[in-house]
Amino acid sequence: MKVVQYILLVIIMALVATACAAPDQAPEEDVQAANPSTISVSIGDWDSTEPKNLPDSVSIGVLFGLSGDIAVYGEVQQHGVQLAVEQINGSNYLGAGTTLEALFEDTGATGEGAIAAMDTVLGKGVVVVVGPTLSTQAFSADPIAQESGIPVLGVSNTANGITNMGDFVFRDSLPEASVVPGTIAQATEILGLENVGIIWGNDDDFTASGYEVFKGALADNNVSIIADETFARGDVDFNAQLTKIIAENPDALVVSALAQEAAQIITQSRNLGFEGAIIGGNGFNSPAIISQAGEAAEGVIVGAAWNIASDAAISQEFIDAFEESFGAAPDQFAAQSYTGVWLIATAIRRADSGDPASIRDALAAITNFDSPLGSFSFDAARNPVHDPVAQIIKDGQYQILSVETAQP
Ligand code: ALA
Repeated sequence: MKVVQYILLVIIMALVATACAAPDQAPEEDVQAANPSTISVSIGDWDSTEPKNLPDSVSIGVLFGLSGDIAVYGEVQQHGVQLAVEQINGSNYLGAGTTLEALFEDTGATGEGAIAAMDTVLGKGVVVVVGPTLSTQAFSADPIAQESGIPVLGVSNTANGITNMGDFVFRDSLPEASVVPGTIAQATEILGLENVGIIWGNDDDFTASGYEVFKGALADNNVSIIADETFARGDVDFNAQLTKIIAENPDALVVSALAQEAAQIITQSRNLGFEGAIIGGNGFNSPAIISQAGEAAEGVIVGAAWNIASDAAISQEFIDAFEESFGAAPDQFAAQSYTGVWLIATAIRRADSGDPASIRDALAAITNFDSPLGSFSFDAARNPVHDPVAQIIKDGQYQILSVETAQP
């Protein structure tokens, strides 16, 4: 009898153990089924260990100018982020159990708007912030992230000194100082520039910084500035300044402006009969310049962090996916915001942690990351390192600047 009881007990224990073990195995299959990998992408550090310790959801704050005069940048930046998030989640880049969530806030075009948006997303417990769109806004809002110990990644801030705000402040946007000197050197060689007139916005950190960088680059190439005029953001009539500049008969007009003012400066200078070259800074990298200035934008030269004609497969994959999602081609701002979110996701994946300080360290360690912008690294000051490109607007497109494309 005792032997039979013992056998029954063993059978019962085995059944109970099997029943208890089942839920342990089921979740793995459930998780796979609940969040299947639906896409595969080339971008990403897929060789790194799949994270095991991340929470179900990791939130990032995304601050862009989605209204006002800088929405031409903010809207495409938002699309770049949306595409990256969709791919990151669809490919299970953070592991099958973890979703990346982007909390968007519209900053408008002001520093105050950026501060309010920063406060809002930090209050929601985000582990990283992307943005804000303008350098001027970054100088207002980024110190809050720095003080809170939350990494902030600018994806379009190109003024000097952005990352000097602190060790939690990053950018993936090449500063003017990394782009303009090459563009001026190439334009000077191709066009034989000897003197230029310059017009710049003196009430904005990016346009003022761009002016300083242009001055240095022109001096380095022995090009004289024979007329120097300023404007303020929101101005719409530049005829007085442009008339003075054109009267000096410069070889080229150099412009440090954001898109809204830039489009009008281009149009008004052509209306005043100026036929020389026009060279702009990073604010010129929106197709809105081409659609607003039309024919007047033909021949405009601008350096950039990315050109749509890049034949790199990873860039082409980005362009195709972007066009499929949004029905329009991406621009440089979209390429930078898209890359920025992949950089952040890579830092989260490698850190295998939702801790902002650990993510900061992993972000700072990124080197040679293959992206639409090229092989991307952060330098010791958390500024981007990759190749810029000089462009010319031709036939309504941003084309690579060369002797051939510079022909009218
Ligand atoms: N590149 C511009 C800025 O830094 C948008 O403000």
